[in-house]
Amino acid sequence: MKISVVGAGYVGLVSAACFAEIGHDVICVDNDSDKIRRLSAGEIPIHEEHLPLLLERHLGQRLNFSSDLGEAVRFCEAIFICVGTPPSPNGEADLSYVEGVAREIAHLLNGPKVIVEKSTVPVGTCEAVSRTLLLSGVSPMDFSVASNPEFLREGTAVSDFLFPDRILLGVPDQRSHSIMTQIYAPILNGSYYLSPDAIKGSTCTSTKLIISSVKSAELIKHASNAFLALKISFINAVSIVCERVGADVRQVSEGLGADSRIGPRFLNPGIGYGGSCFPKDVLAFRSVARSVGYDFNLLTEVIAINETQKSLFIAKIRNALWTLRGKKLAVLGMAFKGGTDDVRDSPALDIILSLRAQGAEVRAFDPAAMKRAAALLPEGTATFTPDAYSACTGADALIVLTEWPEFANLDFARVRKLLRFPIVLDGRNLLNAQAVRDAGLTYFGIGGDIEQPLSPLNQFEDIFDPVHVLYEQAPPQVVNTETQLA
Ligand SMILES: NC(=O)c1ccc[n+]([C@@H]2O[C@H](COP(=O)([O-])OP(=O)(O)OC[C@H]3O[C@@H](n4cnc5c(N)ncnc54)[C@H](O)[C@@H]3O)[C@@H](O)[C@H]2O)c1
Repeated sequence: MKISVVGAGYVGLVSAACFAEIGHDVICVDNDSDKIRRLSAGEIPIHEEHLPLLLERHLGQRLNFSSDLGEAVRFCEAIFICVGTPPSPNGEADLSYVEGVAREIAHLLNGPKVIVEKSTVPVGTCEAVSRTLLLSGVSPMDFSVASNPEFLREGTAVSDFLFPDRILLGVPDQRSHSIMTQIYAPILNGSYYLSPDAIKGSTCTSTKLIISSVKSAELIKHASNAFLALKISFINAVSIVCERVGADVRQVSEGLGADSRIGPRFLNPGIGYGGSCFPKDVLAFRSVARSVGYDFNLLTEVIAINETQKSLFIAKIRNALWTLRGKKLAVLGMAFKGGTDDVRDSPALDIILSLRAQGAEVRAFDPAAMKRAAALLPEGTATFTPDAYSACTGADALIVLTEWPEFANLDFARVRKLLRFPIVLDGRNLLNAQAVRDAGLTYFGIGGDIEQPLSPLNQFEDIFDPVHVLYEQAPPQVVNTETQLA
């Protein structure tokens, strides 16, 4: 099938490459002509596993790049809109990029096409795209607007796309139903996986096809991201309680996640969610609810807990180091999560900015995100180092802010020798606390396993102490928090 993809960002580029990989002919369009020039020359602007291989396989054959939307529209049977939907100052999704593309397509249509909205958008957006085309004089016989939200995760985007646990099609009519199921047939019927060259990288072998109304599909995407953010904020709130009563959130997460109704994923506490999706999608979903007269206060709380996590971690750093002015801090991780170079809305950057504002000298390393971080952070915020060990050299403490697997495998005996003080603060509960301690370092994680702070200024002292005293005297089998704290 002939497919066009508008927007060559994280979603558009991965979608275009994966559609080519499963056998379709694809043109990917972007209005950033420099990006298109680089892509056409085989240069990949984002860090994503398997993407270089897919471009090597298909560039100039089944996959081509262009700045000419007209060419892409004329070429295809289905056109996927994958442009950004950033937050407006009031939290609503800014749909101007989607609207811009819809208007352009309206003037370029040359016959019946399925227009597929893949960007994450508020419910009702596909209806608005249809209205835009109709108002521009396009015949309703010449287009259908379907919703096909994308669930890929940056860092594992290619394997998520090719091995999805679900494909969601919000289809308004038979024509779009037929075209959309043909597009995804190699994944749905498993024929792609039979190819000896198929990308490996996921254990998911059965993909669930969900056919819904267009509005339901739009809502499923927002509700999914809001629910995942909620799960993260929930375990983060639980981690605060764990610290204050002397429990270990890792054990609590394991026990909680073993319930098949809850599941173990997204139950790892840390410095909070970030990235280009969760923060904006939670805000946008809350705005959708408000616009129809419902105050989705639960989401307000999800956002508040997420913000609190950053302040609590900064307080933890201060507790460990006493004052920050003049301290040299080795910071590992700037991307909003491991496996990606994306630093949009990264909690790591917020923390770096705060440490710097409090007078610390930040020596930072990230395996993929340093270039993007350098472009976003004001000059002089951090010194970027060539590797993790260089960041540690002469530093007063090591701080982990992104869950890159290589950070977990550092040689901590070497780290111990490089640091001025033996302090490790792990904002992602990534490291093996015991291995860190065995190397002679003091480990501070999130949600328990608490070390005595080196500083006399323990900001949580008044909260921790009564509980710790109780626990030291007689560790209870079953903790009734209210009674213990009373
Ligand atoms: N990044 C993710 O992990 C992810 C996952 C699922 C869904 N989404 C959603 O997908 C959408 C895109 O996200 P992204 O991260 O790929 O964004 P992005 O900012 O990386 O990419 C958007 C691209 O669209 C291009 N663009 C903008 N206007 C255009 C126009 N008129 N014509 C052609 N190109 C145009 C931009 O130049 C840019 O390259 C968003 O709605 C996002 O919420 C993102």
